[in-house]
Parts: sequence; structure tokens; C-alpha cells
Amino acid sequence: MADCQGDGEGASSPVELYEKLTAQGEQVRTLKTAKASKADIDAAVQLLLKLKINYKQMTGQDYKAGCPPSENSVAPENGPAAGGADDEDTVDPWNVSTNNAKGVDYDKLILRFGSSKIDKELVDRIEKVSGQKAHHFLRRGIFFSHRDMHQVLDAYEKQKSFYLYTGRGPSSEAMHVGHLIPFIFTKWLQDVFDIPLVIQLTDDEKYLWKDLSLEDCHRFAVENTKDIIACGFDVNKTFIFSDLEYMGASPEFYRNVVKIQKHVTFNQVKGIFGFTDSDCIGKISFPAIQAAPSFSNSFPQIFNGRKDVQCLIPCAIDQDPYFRMTRDVAPRIGYPKPALLHSTFFPALQGAQTKMSASDANSSIFLTDTPKQIKNKVNKHAFSGGKDTVEEHRKYGGNPDVDVAFMYLTFFLEDDEQLEKIRQDYASGALLTGELKKLLIDTLQPIIEQHQQRRKEVTEENVKQFMTPRPLNFN
Ligand code: TRP
Repeated sequence: MADCQGDGEGASSPVELYEKLTAQGEQVRTLKTAKASKADIDAAVQLLLKLKINYKQMTGQDYKAGCPPSENSVAPENGPAAGGADDEDTVDPWNVSTNNAKGVDYDKLILRFGSSKIDKELVDRIEKVSGQKAHHFLRRGIFFSHRDMHQVLDAYEKQKSFYLYTGRGPSSEAMHVGHLIPFIFTKWLQDVFDIPLVIQLTDDEKYLWKDLSLEDCHRFAVENTKDIIACGFDVNKTFIFSDLEYMGASPEFYRNVVKIQKHVTFNQVKGIFGFTDSDCIGKISFPAIQAAPSFSNSFPQIFNGRKDVQCLIPCAIDQDPYFRMTRDVAPRIGYPKPALLHSTFFPALQGAQTKMSASDANSSIFLTDTPKQIKNKVNKHAFSGGKDTVEEHRKYGGNPDVDVAFMYLTFFLEDDEQLEKIRQDYASGALLTGELKKLLIDTLQPIIEQHQQRRKEVTEENVKQFMTPRPLNFN
């Protein structure tokens, strides 16, 4: 029980402070139930009150058990105050939305989550240590936030290697282009650092959260694995696993799950994930399963039982709650904290107010779409930052900051100079919306066609190879 209390000082974000408060409230209750001495109870209550005052100062709101802070809880003096339209950003593993057409305010999110910005200095350092030009996702701020990346690089410079962990929740057969982002970047990291990679397919998670059968979730895991393999991962350095298979096959993995479960309370996961008393117990214990791959001894075939190999997790920022929990538990069970690299969301075709969602066909470009479907969707649905008439557009120019076609080009067009020219021409009015959309269509069609070709070449035998627990080759 005493495991989960902090001193309340040093909480760097509303969410962290909220989590501390929830834990402290529980501590007070535990002491009272255990009929602890008055002095002990008073001390705990004092700390609780102090935390509540800090919380009110930081968020402008009163602390309420079971109600995690919302985005608008950041007090104005803490936020970068970007015009007020972003007051209602929602970012958690299940929901992403904002009122701002430019998308979520990511600087504010860094403050709220207490992570660090990937600044020019870090990008330069990644280039220096890897000896490779930084990936355009880094150069353009698509991966924008991190935890402990400097530490990973310090160790790497001293010949201490690390491994990568990422994942995917297989909720359907249909993957869209947004799903590729973490995998494209993870492959780049694997190539430039020459390190092993584990990929978790949380078919158990999707069964618990969605109205799907176990069989379907597992089938989606295998189908999605083919798309992941098609991203070009090196079979000698990559292990892909379904929770429904690997949990039962690996005592070491399950031991870590149980260790994590013992060190996180219901109150803590309520605070972090907003679970309620009527959520099934599978959901409540699931975060331990997403945490376990962050510890190298969950994979004895790969790391020979070593528990101290540093883990680096590239993921979209909505997955951070899982890993805040993981980093909190790690030192208490004798493991290093995983480091993280966070990406922004891939906007829906209708605009950056939400992310692309596979359950809304019109919001998404699927990896199975034909060139014609891609063209139609972009032309019909991609939100435009252009003006209503050609005359007005020529006169006033378009707004690339809210234009979805332009945003997608920042993800998929590698040439920096060409991208900058498109931005300028669109903003000046020299480039029309239809022309901008055509540039996107011409960029996306071959990328998707090549993906489909590579996916077709993935055999059942390949899938089996990637999904078999085995030693991997790395230095
Ligand atoms: N929960 C994630 C999802 O629904 C899947 C996931 C599991 C994951 N482990 C991960 C994502 C590690 C990123 C990193 O998509």
C-alpha cells in the first residue's frame, strides 16, 4: 500500500498531481481503516490538504475524486495561451478532440502531461549519435515530445544499447494511413540504431473494450501483422506478438504482469484512466499487460533473462497514460523506466479537430483503398484551407495551417524544399486548392500501392516467423 504514495512535491503537471492526490486520498482511508495513530492520520490529511491547494493553484479547479483534470484545467498563466479556441482538447487512449482547426495544442499537452519537448538540440543530437540525417517526422515536429531520450543517447554513446517497443490495438482488419506513422518511424529507428524491436498486438484489449469476439480480435491481430510486416521490418531483429498467444506461452511475461498488478491500486488506475466501478475487471487490470513489454526480462528468448536493457517506446501521445503508470511502477519493482518518443495525431480528412478513425470510413484513407478511392476521398472530404472562389483565393491566399491536404503532405512528402514551396504558394494564392489536393493524391497513391504490393508478398510463413518467440540478431 505504502508503495503508491509520493510526497506531493514535484508534480509537474495537473494529471500527475491529480494522480498523487488520488493516491493520497486512498492513503488517508487506509490509515483510518487500519486505526493508525492520530499523528499519522493527521500528517496524511495535512499532506492531502496541501496537495488540494496546489491542485487548485495549478488548474484553477477543485480536486474531485474520479474526475481527472480536463485540458482546460491548465491555469492561464501556465499555458502558452494560444487564442482560447483550444480550451477543450481531450486526449486519452480512447478520445482525441479539440475545437481548434489547427489541431490539438501540443505545447499545452507537454505541460499537462509533464513530458519534454523534442527541440532542435535533441534532433541534432539524434543525428550526431545515429550518424544519419534525422527523419522528417523529427525535423517537422511530428514526433514532438519525449521522456528521457537524452538518457538513452548518453548510454548509447557509452556502448550501452537499448530496444524498441511499440504496438497496435487490432480493432478491425482495416488499417488506415495514420496507423502507419508510428511503424514507419520505428522502422527508421531500428535501422539507424541497429536494435531489437518488440511489437505488441493487444487483441485482449480490443476484446475487453469493443463488442467483438475473441476469435475476431485474434484474427485482426494476425491480419494487422501482415500490414506491419509490409512496413519493412527486419525479421532478424523483430518479434511481433499477440497478447492472446504470448501471455499464455511465456511465464516470464506473465510474472511481470503480476508484479505490476501488485504495485498499482484501483484508485491509481481510476485516476489515470477514468475507470469507474462498473468497468469490467479485465479493463482495470489491462494496463499492466501494456506495461509489461517495457521490461526486457518479459522476453527471455531475446535478452537472455537480462532485466536491465533500456526500453524506448515510440507511440502516439494518447498512449502516454499507460507509460506514466509504467514509469511510476518501474523503480519499485527493480526495473529501468522506459523512455518515450511521442507523436502528434494523424488528422481526420474532415479536419484536425479529431484524428483519423477506422470506424468512420469517410474520415480515413485505408491501406486497401484503390487509387481512384484515394482521389475521390481527398477531393470530396479533405478539409480545405482555401477560399470560396478562385478570385478570392488568388487575392487572399489559402491557410495551410488548417488545410488537411497540406497537413498530410507534411507526413508523406519527404522533400523539405518542395514542401516549403507548396506552403508558400498556397499561402500566397498562387496554388489553388484543387492543385494542392492533386499534389497530395500523386504523393499518396504510389505510397499506398507499394504498401499493397509488399503486403501481398507477405506469406503465412513470414507471419509465423515474426510471431515465433526466438533469439534476435543484434549487437
Ligand atoms: N493500446 C494501443 C492501441 O490501442 C496498442 C499498444 C500496445 C501500443 N502497446 C503499445 C501502442 C505500445 C504504442 C506503444 O492502439
